[in-house]
Amino acid sequence: SISGGGCPFSGNDGGVRALLGRTNRDWWPDALQLEILTQNGASPDPMGEDFDYAEAFNALDYTALKEDLKALMTDSQPWWPADYGHYGPFFIRMAWHAAGTYRTGDGRGGSSSGQQRFAPLNSWPDNGNLDKARRLLWPIKQKYGKHISWADLFILTGNVAIESMGGPVFGFGGGRKDVYAPETDVYWGTEEKWIDEGAETRIVEEEGRALENPLAAIQMGLIYVNPEGPGGNPDPLQSARDMRETFGRMAMNDEETVALTAGGHAFGKAHGAVPVDNMSGSPESEAGNMHMMGFGWTSDPEEIGKGHITTSGIEGAWTPNPTQWGGDYFRLLFKYDYELVRSPAGAQQWQPVNAEEADMAPDARDPSKKVPTMMTTADMALKMDPAYRKISERFRDDQAALDDAFARAWFKLCHRDMGPKSRYLGPEVPAEDLIWQDPVPEGSVPSDSVVSEFTSKILDSGLSVRELVKAAWASASTYRQSDRRGGSNGARIRLAPQKDWKVNDPEELSKVLSKIDELRGDISMADAIVLAGTAAVEKAAKDGGFDVKADLKLGRGDASEAQTDAESFEPLEPFADGFRNYLQTKASIKTEDILIDRASLLGLSIPEMTVLVGGLRALGAVSKHAKHGYDIGVLTDRPGVLSNDFFVNLLEMGVMWEVVDESGDEEFVGKDRSTGETKWNATRTDLVFGSNSQLRSVAEVYAENGNEQKFAADFVKAWTKVMNANFA
Ligand code: HEM
Repeated sequence: SISGGGCPFSGNDGGVRALLGRTNRDWWPDALQLEILTQNGASPDPMGEDFDYAEAFNALDYTALKEDLKALMTDSQPWWPADYGHYGPFFIRMAWHAAGTYRTGDGRGGSSSGQQRFAPLNSWPDNGNLDKARRLLWPIKQKYGKHISWADLFILTGNVAIESMGGPVFGFGGGRKDVYAPETDVYWGTEEKWIDEGAETRIVEEEGRALENPLAAIQMGLIYVNPEGPGGNPDPLQSARDMRETFGRMAMNDEETVALTAGGHAFGKAHGAVPVDNMSGSPESEAGNMHMMGFGWTSDPEEIGKGHITTSGIEGAWTPNPTQWGGDYFRLLFKYDYELVRSPAGAQQWQPVNAEEADMAPDARDPSKKVPTMMTTADMALKMDPAYRKISERFRDDQAALDDAFARAWFKLCHRDMGPKSRYLGPEVPAEDLIWQDPVPEGSVPSDSVVSEFTSKILDSGLSVRELVKAAWASASTYRQSDRRGGSNGARIRLAPQKDWKVNDPEELSKVLSKIDELRGDISMADAIVLAGTAAVEKAAKDGGFDVKADLKLGRGDASEAQTDAESFEPLEPFADGFRNYLQTKASIKTEDILIDRASLLGLSIPEMTVLVGGLRALGAVSKHAKHGYDIGVLTDRPGVLSNDFFVNLLEMGVMWEVVDESGDEEFVGKDRSTGETKWNATRTDLVFGSNSQLRSVAEVYAENGNEQKFAADFVKAWTKVMNANFA
């Protein structure tokens, strides 16, 4: 599967892991603790809330910027001279590593916020020396200022690099807004060592250990695979297995993987000219080397001048023309047998046997000198793995096919985490719709009278508040702000695979959707589902004595099956959803952690998450319990009426909670302290709002006398935020 489907928190060893694994604080305990200045919600973003990046980008002199970038390619700086007098390959690696952290499992990572500037990415061994690439760009970033973000600049520079060396590009979309602090919500793994310190690889077949979800790299500190082969073992077939797994996690199939890797390695060289021990200078960027001004991996400037640089440890170019696009990569890969050798830095790599002089590469600093080319073990996989080989041979024989495949795969790599195409900015946005963009036809906004006619019909249709609310939640709550996929737009809830997800109670859902479809008239299905659920919420509020109105945005379109890559939606399936009190199988992190994770992907604050859970429980909008088939956590005598009963009853001191399930800690009953009579059923994602001190402090607010109207208003506001997520 290229989708990386399956529970994103499925464990490898059955143990419990922390939601975030190893964090920046673990790696660099002495790093400046700037987060104390963001306490109380102060933003670290100097541009302020009112800054409109799209507007700034649209005022950019795009042509002038591209011209400046092109000139920069060959403007070699003495502090980091350009190999072959051209920075293009270096910048392509920078862009590829910026985009390449994206993973389908949770949509996190990727190029869209300029995270390569911050820890841990700025210090990953795989990103070695890319700090120099980013600093080479500083004068241009400074010149264009707010009109181009770092995040856009990384990718655009990669594109210009490819173009300036004669390579094919498919287009560019701007719109990646910078952030000014490290993202703290991304799980990068639990290992305590970087790859090059001898860490274990994540796939261990003998132990039946698969790559842990949602991770998309084979070891901590790598973008994908170890170039020397799994765990440093130079076995091309095993390397192919790792490549297939990791590239699949970022939605790349075999053809895209081959095109990208071969296309990328048409350019540039690997750096392993000196043993690592000879590198005099500082450790990685984040380690706080004051006078080096944030540069990591530094060495003697004179040595750098001579090209005595070690980055990956592998040494040499892949082709004789490392600054020129063409077919040399596959020509050499198939023309020669390759033998295993060691680089001066000691890395295992492959060298052509008896290479002709014309097939040798120029020295990076002295074009008159010829040096051997090389392949990494991962490159050898493109020749040795039978499926990759077929594709590689086709590309060797058909340059136009490689051009097209590379250009398209590169565009996908760099834009996959940006969300719908409507968000792309600038003059080079390709007209063609691509299936991975999850295209949705434009919708139209129904008139108020059409809307009210529909909502009164649906409320009279015999469907319950609970059913309508559940359908709308099922539709909208797949949204994730990490890659802006999912959500109510497109009404993909009525298509495979979403219509069949267990969490959605498929039979009930199908009944509700057909009724909505029958009554909706000209309203799009996507709008109608959300309208119906929201009308039910408003009715429930009224029944509870509240007068609240949702500020719903309309104009959603309906996607067809042909516009939907069903397999690519598999990773969006919730195997646990605290908002609906659903747990299919226990994961390797705590069930309440999964609730927090989902809230984070929905862009919710702590109060928003809290009020939503309490409100949805009161409405009875929970999925049928996976094991028992009935509702759990509905702590009210009047389900379907909007009330703060959930919070009141949860915090009621007359009730004592006991664990009931065999596994020990997922299900609970609340009993009357004096009579011992069972009053409620609940799960971890219910009780956490009473047991966790911080969540309890918020739950208390919603249980307090006098805050009932606030509860109802906050609930409807948070509900609306989720319903409108695609418009954010
Ligand atoms: C450089 C490995 C995929 C583009 C390198 C280097 C290694 C490597 C070890 C040398 C870094 C150094 O020492 O300076 C891999 C592996 C891949 C992969 C194992 C996947 C299996 C890609 C992809 C692209 C790409 C998908 C772009 C589409 C480049 C470029 C360079 C490079 C342009 C040269 C950088 C320079 O000249 O400074 N790669 N790579 N690579 N890679 Fe890859």
